[in-house]
Amino acid sequence: MRPPLEIAPSILAADFAALGEAVRAIEKGGAELLHVDVMDGHFVPNISIGIPVVESLRKATRLPLDVHLMIEAPERYIDAFADAGADSLIVHQEGNHHLQRLLASIRHRKLGVGVAINPATPVGTLVEVLGEVDVVLVMSVNPGFGGQKFLPGSLGKMRMLRELRERNRYTYRIQVDGGVGMDTVADIARAGGEILVAGTCVFHAPDPAEAVRKLRQAGAEALAQRV
Ligand code: DX5
Ligand code: ZN
Repeated sequence: MRPPLEIAPSILAADFAALGEAVRAIEKGGAELLHVDVMDGHFVPNISIGIPVVESLRKATRLPLDVHLMIEAPERYIDAFADAGADSLIVHQEGNHHLQRLLASIRHRKLGVGVAINPATPVGTLVEVLGEVDVVLVMSVNPGFGGQKFLPGSLGKMRMLRELRERNRYTYRIQVDGGVGMDTVADIARAGGEILVAGTCVFHAPDPAEAVRKLRQAGAEALAQRV
């Protein structure tokens, strides 16, 4: 049984000259996943990292590598990221003409299957594939950069996804990405966010391990109040 809340620090906010140290810190803090933001400068207006870094991270940690593909034509890279050591691949609903086939190709490589929606994309665009994914990633910022402000409209999407899951007995987890921090985690946990991607609030903290612990604690306290 997975814990009610999982913390997935995003290395986009880490010091790329010291990624090993960054990974050790969040392992110490008890993070469940490592979120790896891959950006190609086309799908989003930023360029981050790619396959060689995933290969290095694979050798540096046993944490599941949760690879978020913010790239055009992700179908071309499923095998490469799978071979590099990704444990799950998150692709965007936007910009994919054949989303069901794309998700099936990730499943075929026996990876965790995630689909992401940007702030302007309705949950309704996913209804035909919700039964085929392990994770729905609600982007709570416009993708491309860390350190942005959380968009509160994302909370309604989490509630809707939770309700759809209960009504249809789906099994996906609800993941949130962007602007997750001590000021937003309580609302997110209460709305149904379960896997919390956190870049700035973890890696810009003086003690990332402590930041992971504090984030989880704040989320757990909010959940306790919800019941
Ligand atoms: C944004 C990325 C997010 C980002 C989160 O495009 O997908 O994962 O790194 O960073 P923070 O937590 O700083 O908003
Ligand atoms: Zn991300």
